[in-house]
Amino acid sequence: MSTPQKINKSVGKPISRVDGVEKVTGKAKYAAEFNVPDLAYGVVVSSAIAKGKIKSLDTSDALALDGVLQVFTHENRPKIAWFDISYNDQDAPPGSPFRPLYDATIKYSGQPIALVVAETFEVARYAATLIRADYEEATHETDLEANLHKARKPKSGIASLLKPPPPKPRGDFDKVYEEDPNKITGRYVHAAEHHNPMELFATTVVFEKGGKDGKGKLTIYDKTQGVTNSSMYVSQVFNIPSDDIRVLSPYMGGGFGSGLRPQYQLFLSVLAARELKRSVRVSLTRQQMFTFGHRPATVQNVALGALEDGTLNALCHDATGETSQFEDYTEIVVSWGGMLYPPKNVTMEYKVVPLDVYSPLDMRAPGGVTGMHALEVAMDELAYNLGMDPLQLRLKNYTDIDHNEDRPFSSKELRECFRQGAERFGWSSRNPEPRSMKKDHNLIGWGMATGIWDANQMPSRAEAVLMVNGKLRVSCATADIGTGTYTIMTQIAADTLGMPMEDVLFKLGDTDLPFSLISGGSWTAASVGSAVQEACQAVGKSLLKLAKKMPASPFKGVKWEDIEFADSHLRLKSDQSVAVSLQTLVDQNGGKAVRESVTSLPNAFKQKDYTRSAHSAVFAEVMVDEDLGTVKVTRVVSAIAAGRILNPKTSRSQILGGMVWGISKALEEESAMDHNFGRFMNHSLAEYHVAVNADIHDLDVIFVEEHDDIVNPLGVKGLGEIGIVGMPAAIANAVFHATGRRVRDLPITLDKLL
Ligand code: MOS
Repeated sequence: MSTPQKINKSVGKPISRVDGVEKVTGKAKYAAEFNVPDLAYGVVVSSAIAKGKIKSLDTSDALALDGVLQVFTHENRPKIAWFDISYNDQDAPPGSPFRPLYDATIKYSGQPIALVVAETFEVARYAATLIRADYEEATHETDLEANLHKARKPKSGIASLLKPPPPKPRGDFDKVYEEDPNKITGRYVHAAEHHNPMELFATTVVFEKGGKDGKGKLTIYDKTQGVTNSSMYVSQVFNIPSDDIRVLSPYMGGGFGSGLRPQYQLFLSVLAARELKRSVRVSLTRQQMFTFGHRPATVQNVALGALEDGTLNALCHDATGETSQFEDYTEIVVSWGGMLYPPKNVTMEYKVVPLDVYSPLDMRAPGGVTGMHALEVAMDELAYNLGMDPLQLRLKNYTDIDHNEDRPFSSKELRECFRQGAERFGWSSRNPEPRSMKKDHNLIGWGMATGIWDANQMPSRAEAVLMVNGKLRVSCATADIGTGTYTIMTQIAADTLGMPMEDVLFKLGDTDLPFSLISGGSWTAASVGSAVQEACQAVGKSLLKLAKKMPASPFKGVKWEDIEFADSHLRLKSDQSVAVSLQTLVDQNGGKAVRESVTSLPNAFKQKDYTRSAHSAVFAEVMVDEDLGTVKVTRVVSAIAAGRILNPKTSRSQILGGMVWGISKALEEESAMDHNFGRFMNHSLAEYHVAVNADIHDLDVIFVEEHDDIVNPLGVKGLGEIGIVGMPAAIANAVFHATGRRVRDLPITLDKLL
């Protein structure tokens, strides 16, 4: 037997991205970069009005241009299956999903009204400018605050499983709040925001003759957070056998939730490819990024009441969010206070106002960052009202029980987040007095807030194959939305079979691979990670069987519990010199690879009695220019408890990204709607402000140790969203401490401080 080479475990180590070189050298291809011969290009024409009808559409000038192949409109579109069935994608809110080119009706500004397809992109783009549309305008309503009287309860549907309505009221809020010696109340208005990933939305459809129904086979490169979602959409909407559709998305240039639903460029490119029997690409522009899905504008009211000693005993949180006329998009905005704090008298309500806009769409920590901003600013205000330190108020009302569900958390190291975060930040030397710290003409402020996000696990499949050359190939149709999925799955697989990472290849983003749901909600590490671990364990079990069959095998009668995988060997735990290499074992398999597929399901029996959440404590320092009202976030410490940290390097990057976006959300991001036109006007990165390098200063991330064997066998909670959640409130509270101004609306632009 060979002498094993020592291989260190990779989980828990700061491993660089396995896809890093591909990404930074431009080798990683995105949806619009897959070139095929004879590709045609589609450009979308968008509606100029927000509501009404297309009276006439003149496409003749466009069609007359050399190189224009076709202009698709509602007048000449083929009959499409989904117009007869009701279809929901994996992230569809209750209602009826938007149907591009359905008829002459305009439901929102920017709605696609035509697709021009030409031999070149340039001709298509020019031809699109020649389309003349005449509209019959109707009065639109796009202003949430002006339409609050229309607020109603959202309809329920399948999406409500993950976004349950707020819990029923408990206790007697009105009476207790009335009698409380300390109380505060406030109204919080948030602007709509748009995801602005660097990679724009695009689909390249490669058309081949043939297929089960003879109408062609499609290979689709789509910008998506879930290839299976895109595939199911195309299959059902166009009534194409799923065997004739393969969707790929090996890389994604940022998603943040915008890729959780199939967007209209997918529909239009497939339609054109099928009709023209040709490969087609449709790319949307940055402006068109603002014509589907956004974080909804919201109005929230929070009231908190407490006893003299700071005991919180009354909590009221209600929120109203905008939605479209065709779907009831909801998010969990108001339920967090009942999870995080123990008041006995609670009312929470969430309502929607349907407007003439596209359906809102999940955007990083949907609802969480919204609701926690209001709640945690209210907590700060209450602390001032009580004359109590804001951190002490949180500790006074600390609980290990989720009072909404009346069950404990599977783990909650938030207290440790507070302790470590406060210490690193130097919170104890804070003078609570607003405007007490000054440097030249700058006011300095320190603020803190708590963050919380769900730790979910979804069903997922995975396959592991120990190939004849001794290398391991693991796969799943999940996504790497830029967060490190490739890397952590490679680590998990390598460690499970005791192999070096270089011998493991993880594949994703392809519907030919085992099924997985959309990658979102911070659940990919837990869901796909568990599947990868189980698939590798299944290979391990097959290897043990092979080991037992070897002549004079020392493994006869040995149980799974008695062995371990290390240094590319299977060996006895009790006597590590009894070992056989994985290569030797696969050689016993009659020239075949050892292949196992598993479906990994959450352990509902173990999970059902617990609430599973990640937590954070955020401490922020701001510097506010007294003359100009500009805010600079000079320093932030974010202490995170999110279970096991698989990779401190990619994890820290995730949290840093959330913190940067938190600064952006607190101070800059706002999709400005001109209600006269019903259109988002700042639809470019020049006018839709996001944080840039100059806005980002000292960011510090602490991962607090947290063990949890209830969430999933890996003990991971996911990090996609928790990084942003506490940020806006911590910054808003720091702004109050600096200036004495309680700004409750976001973003905190300088006009609100002058
Ligand atoms: Mo995230 S908003 O679930 O992509």
